Amino acid sequence: MHQTIKVGKDPGYFLHLGAPLKELGAFLDKTYGASGHYLIITNPIVADLYAEQLLEGLKYFRTDLITVPDSEEEKSLARISKLTEQALRCRADRATIVIALGGGVIGDLAGFFASIFMRGIRYIHIPTTFLAQIDSSIGGKVAVNHPAGKNLLGSFYSPQFVWTDFTTLETLPWVEIQNGLAETIKHALVGDPELLDLVEEKVDAIKNKDLVVLQNIAMKSLAVKVKIVSEDEREKNQRVLLNLGHSFGHALEADQGFRGITHGQGVSLGLLAASYISYNRGLLSAGELARIENILNKLELPTWVTSCDPYVLLELMAGDKKNKAGNKVLVLPVGIGKAMAVADCEDGEIVVAWKKIIK
Ligand SMILES: NC(=O)c1ccc[n+]([C@@H]2O[C@H](COP(=O)([O-])OP(=O)(O)OC[C@H]3O[C@@H](n4cnc5c(N)ncnc54)[C@H](O)[C@@H]3O)[C@@H](O)[C@H]2O)c1
Repeated sequence: MHQTIKVGKDPGYFLHLGAPLKELGAFLDKTYGASGHYLIITNPIVADLYAEQLLEGLKYFRTDLITVPDSEEEKSLARISKLTEQALRCRADRATIVIALGGGVIGDLAGFFASIFMRGIRYIHIPTTFLAQIDSSIGGKVAVNHPAGKNLLGSFYSPQFVWTDFTTLETLPWVEIQNGLAETIKHALVGDPELLDLVEEKVDAIKNKDLVVLQNIAMKSLAVKVKIVSEDEREKNQRVLLNLGHSFGHALEADQGFRGITHGQGVSLGLLAASYISYNRGLLSAGELARIENILNKLELPTWVTSCDPYVLLELMAGDKKNKAGNKVLVLPVGIGKAMAVADCEDGEIVVAWKKIIK
């Protein structure tokens, strides 16, 4: 199945879902013509697995492939500078189209590079992780990190289109699928109660990496993100809801030096901490809270953590980019399938939630 879904308006762009890697060349030929220069940016792991398939489809074009080491640390201005030198050596010009082949790190880095190289050239994203397929490839945010903060330097810069071949999930390690699943649970809580039913029903197939089931869940999950970002492309209103679990999760990631805990694990704990606040405010029933904890457990995502100081975590939350006028902006689930952003959480209320997940 090759389906397309439009993201955003004016002009927006298309997600090509279930689109085989080897068919990209024919699509590019039809869309942009036979002559063109494509600069593929990827990492060695993804290149080993998928570059050959991709290049086979692109064999009639002028292509260059640049690999960057596989690490979040490569989302840096230093790497942007190196990419610039490499692109120039490949005789890239304003007509060159960047192809970001990889997960969220490559998508953010190559997308940001495309947004500033020669004042902006076109790019295409081929997301190869579950997280990138359902989340980071949608919404046009590109960025690199800075010592003062994650994704601190970036822009809104949409790809020409996204080309998603779900069969790339076959080689993705379970821990990376889990990172995406934490975002899927977030999407279910923010906008699709039926998605939670589906994940609960198919939990064994998910853990067996059943591709049909994963694809079905990915389609429902990404639909929540598409709907929200299409209505709020520049994050002025409801797009903030996609931050559910992240204010807590980022604090945990920062506390562990971005190494001791994966992003998905941080989001899982963050979803639960936010759910405790909702429960205490009467926005979630005891049954709904238990259901959230239960599905996270079944997906082998953490629901508690040790050796953390709630006051240190509180302090780390003060630096969240989403905060406004010194107030912590938190997103709270309201039942299953709805969420709201609040700026009136007292520090004491947040500490109580932290204490619930710190054993
Ligand atoms: N732009 C956005 O809106 C947005 C949203 C969420 C996250 N992000 C960013 O995304 C990044 C995380 O992305 P990620 O979770 O995809 O991590 P990632 O890009 O680091 O990929 C995870 C690992 O999987 C490997 N990999 C990728 N595809 C594979 C495949 N098909 N088979 C086997 N291995 C494969 C990678 O080499 C890497 O080791 C973070 O930098 C985060 O800030 C951006």
